[in-house]
Amino acid sequence: MKLQSRKILLIIGGGIAAYKVLELIRRLRDEGASVRCVMTAAAQQFVTPLSVATLSADRVFTDLFDRNDEHDVGHIRLSREADLIVVAPATADLMSKLANGAANDLASAVLLATDKSVLMAPAMNPRMWNHPATRRNRATLVADGVSFVGPNRGEMAESGEAGEGRMAEPVEIVAAVVARLGSGPLSGKKIIVTSGPTHEPIDPVRYIANRSSGKQGHAIAAALVRLGAEVRLVTGPVAIADPAGVLTTHVETAAEMLAAVESTLPADGAVFVAAVADWRVVEAASEKIKKQPGATEPPVLHMVENPDILATVGHHAQRPKLVVGFAAETQDLITNGRKKLERKGADIIVANDVSTGTGTMGGDRNRVTLLSANGADEWPELGKDEVAERLAQLIADRLA
Ligand code: CTP
Repeated sequence: MKLQSRKILLIIGGGIAAYKVLELIRRLRDEGASVRCVMTAAAQQFVTPLSVATLSADRVFTDLFDRNDEHDVGHIRLSREADLIVVAPATADLMSKLANGAANDLASAVLLATDKSVLMAPAMNPRMWNHPATRRNRATLVADGVSFVGPNRGEMAESGEAGEGRMAEPVEIVAAVVARLGSGPLSGKKIIVTSGPTHEPIDPVRYIANRSSGKQGHAIAAALVRLGAEVRLVTGPVAIADPAGVLTTHVETAAEMLAAVESTLPADGAVFVAAVADWRVVEAASEKIKKQPGATEPPVLHMVENPDILATVGHHAQRPKLVVGFAAETQDLITNGRKKLERKGADIIVANDVSTGTGTMGGDRNRVTLLSANGADEWPELGKDEVAERLAQLIADRLA
């Protein structure tokens, strides 16, 4: 039981996904948590307070002003007694209220009054989720420290429309809760992970990229969550899903990745797995570059070096206690890896051979050598998941 005697306040919003909270309550309690529920008026249209009360084995709170109720504990106490507040389904309306500081019902008043972490599991129609207003509200909430799990892609229950907006599955929400409150060796530790390639624009339709798939970085983020860490993943464009329970920021360029990483500091640890493009075009063309009829030479791209994200954080005023980098090499693995350890201010460099024929870039397996002040530790060829598992364990030992 990973949530033994932890107190969750679950705010249930009004949406068809509300039916899934019954399973969520059961799963949270199976992990040992106590679950107290607040329902909005709209939520009560989808599930009955009686079902919620039965599954949570507690009374359900619905009214902001319940002066006649001898059990009234008030929104301040409700919000302070919990270890974590979970909003599921988090509707566009609830997100908007908290982003703007509205408090006209019990659910929104609790959210505004709390001093505890808030985890939102949004669920809404894909058009609503993609609306600029919702995007703005999400960005505001993230900046205010609210974390998110989902939404996932899938078919909407009401309309059959496909897109992003489906509430994360109860198991994923439980994983996100465990990541924040669980009792793993990394619980209470915040770790930043970068993953994937970066895309550096040449013009509106072309960019410079590399073969990184994000598999290794995403696997490390997931392994760290399983050990209880609060993980902030910053990823370049990849074709794989965000790991469950990980607050993920999507970026395109190295400059955006650096800004996202710096805004996430301070942290206890940072793992730089992204294959950041070393150069970008000085100024991307604002219009598509056209072929010039009769030109004898192709256009010349003027490039400039990108900021080194690992080196910036390795020498940062808010440097995390443990900084881990990767070294992608095609020759002199150890010598080049050692130089990076030194130059970038890392504690550990995970050096891997990415020569053609190794299949490392984009593949599922990896053979790495760990370089640190303690020397070189050569690991056998392993699946990227196993490399992630071992590395997460090592990080837990070093941060203990
Ligand atoms: N890295 C980074 N920002 C960059 C370049 C690299 O954060 N602009 C990080 C990578 O995430 C990795 C480490 O630095 O953890 C080493 O990346 P690698 O590509 O091996 O090294 P480079 O610094 O690019 O050196 P070189 O291309 O000369 O091998």
